[in-house]
Amino acid sequence: MLLRHVLGISRAGIYLACEQPMPEEAQSRFRALLDARARGRPVPYLTGHREFMGLDLLVDERVLIPRPETELLVELLLHLLQERPGARIADVGTGSGAIAVALATFLPRAAVLAVDVSAEALEVAAANVARHGVADRVRLARGDLLAPVSASGWTGLDAIASNPPYVDAEGSRHLPREIREHEPLLAVVDPGGGTSFHARLTVEAPDLLRPGGWLALEVAAGQAPEVVELFEQTGVYGPVRVVKDLQGIERVVAAERR
Ligand SMILES: C[S@@+](CC[C@H](N)C(=O)[O-])C[C@H]1O[C@@H](n2cnc3c(N)ncnc32)[C@H](O)[C@@H]1O
Repeated sequence: MLLRHVLGISRAGIYLACEQPMPEEAQSRFRALLDARARGRPVPYLTGHREFMGLDLLVDERVLIPRPETELLVELLLHLLQERPGARIADVGTGSGAIAVALATFLPRAAVLAVDVSAEALEVAAANVARHGVADRVRLARGDLLAPVSASGWTGLDAIASNPPYVDAEGSRHLPREIREHEPLLAVVDPGGGTSFHARLTVEAPDLLRPGGWLALEVAAGQAPEVVELFEQTGVYGPVRVVKDLQGIERVVAAERR
């Protein structure tokens, strides 16, 4: 992947070019990338790209690298909202804009309000929104969780999606070096214990959802039962759904506001 990036050629192109000498300048760029990789810098930060839902997203150290598990959250929402093509959706903690851009791309009449507390992350999200031609339907807002959603007058939403930071303080000490030293900790660690963002969202979302609107949250391995309880404690959602990822881990918890 790094070689392809340096040479600007396809995977097949590498085989076709393998008999040709590599220009000096490309060799030194390739060596520099290999050194950085050996020091733990993730490949997507080195190439500046990451694929998500088949979309090529720009990424750098200002944002979390979108993970394949999060595609499950998007797929669930695409399924739930298929009868509501003009849905209005909030993506809370948008980071690179992965969820917002994917929803706007695959629901071509939907409008998305993408929120993040990090101004730097929103710069990356803006680049991805422009890159995928959805700037007319994805609005970006800076602030704490749902505050920018109500401040923008967005109520009666069809869905609120979030992949919030969910690693607790103890877990953050055992994160792989690649994450600990390179990804923004603001995007990964929840100083409130791992499910504090989920707790706030389950309580605050009903005011902004229309009856029949969905709150869908990504969770860490093992957090689903606790998050299901958070939904149930509010008494305002219908039956809570839990979706497992391909490894059989419960990854997404969602319910409809009654
Ligand atoms: C796990 S990342 C998810 C990024 C992206 N949605 C994805 O799935 O790849 C969590 C995001 O939440 C943002 N965040 C952290 N605290 C926040 C808060 N209080 N309000 C809004 N966003 C917050 C972080 O800056 C980060 O971009």
